[in-house]
Amino acid sequence: MLDKFDRTINYLRISVTDRCNLRCVYCMPEEGIKLIEHSSILSFEEIVEFTKVAVEMGISKVRITGGEPLVRKGIINLVAMLSRITGIKDLSMTTNGLLLEKFAQELKTAGLQRVNISLDSIDEQKFSDITRGGNIGEVKKGIEAAKQAGLNPIKINCVIKKSMDEPDALEVKKYCDENGLEARFIYEMDIEKGEFGVVHGGSGGDCANCNRLRLTSAGFLKPCLFSDVSINIRKVYYKEAMRMAIEQKPACGNLSTTHKFYNIGG
Ligand code: 5AD
Ligand code: SF4
Repeated sequence: MLDKFDRTINYLRISVTDRCNLRCVYCMPEEGIKLIEHSSILSFEEIVEFTKVAVEMGISKVRITGGEPLVRKGIINLVAMLSRITGIKDLSMTTNGLLLEKFAQELKTAGLQRVNISLDSIDEQKFSDITRGGNIGEVKKGIEAAKQAGLNPIKINCVIKKSMDEPDALEVKKYCDENGLEARFIYEMDIEKGEFGVVHGGSGGDCANCNRLRLTSAGFLKPCLFSDVSINIRKVYYKEAMRMAIEQKPACGNLSTTHKFYNIGG
């Protein structure tokens, strides 16, 4: 579907949980977050029914995100249900990789095509500091399992502070080159103030070519990461929610104060 600015909207990112088994410093406060009540979280049936309608209206790429999607109970079943929807040409997941060793093969069998894995440093201690206790060994095993399972391509999301030439970023790049992975660098956004905005040169900057909508785990459809517009898909027909979100997609967003990364999925 085309929006008011002639952009083709064909990409839906679905956050399936706000929970995470890490506490990355740029994403979550140390003490954790106020979790969304279980009863508010979309059921698999709701996610799948909504996605079917979205696909009828032109969505052909779907990404599953979180929080950490692999901590959602039954996630393999959801992947299987989504992969059966004809019309999805690209089904992917963004994960921190901790649980990939366990799940990579099942994800592939269920129909997931590929994964993006977050990795900000190759240094064991630094990785642990950034993630507040994460074990990089588990991520590396997860990456290996994803390769073995044939999830392809594997992209590595690396959050950088100022430039792609800072030491951690260079090491991540080297690791990716050596291991057949595609590195992507994302400028860190400031969530300290409870808000985040477009970072110059950041991945959120390409508004003219933005093709995406986001569905939060509590059922709010958002046309833009950087705007407060959100439509409760439980309050209107799914088709109407899609129309409203596309209609209200801003030419270029600037600020969101209502939702955090772990609600929307980065
Ligand atoms: N700035 C930039 N990216 C972020 N992510 C989470 N918090 C931030 C932030 N403050 C992104 C990371 C991670 C993905 C799940 O969300 O890229 O890989
Ligand atoms: Fe979890 Fe990803 Fe946030 Fe890190 S960035 S705390 S892995 S959701």
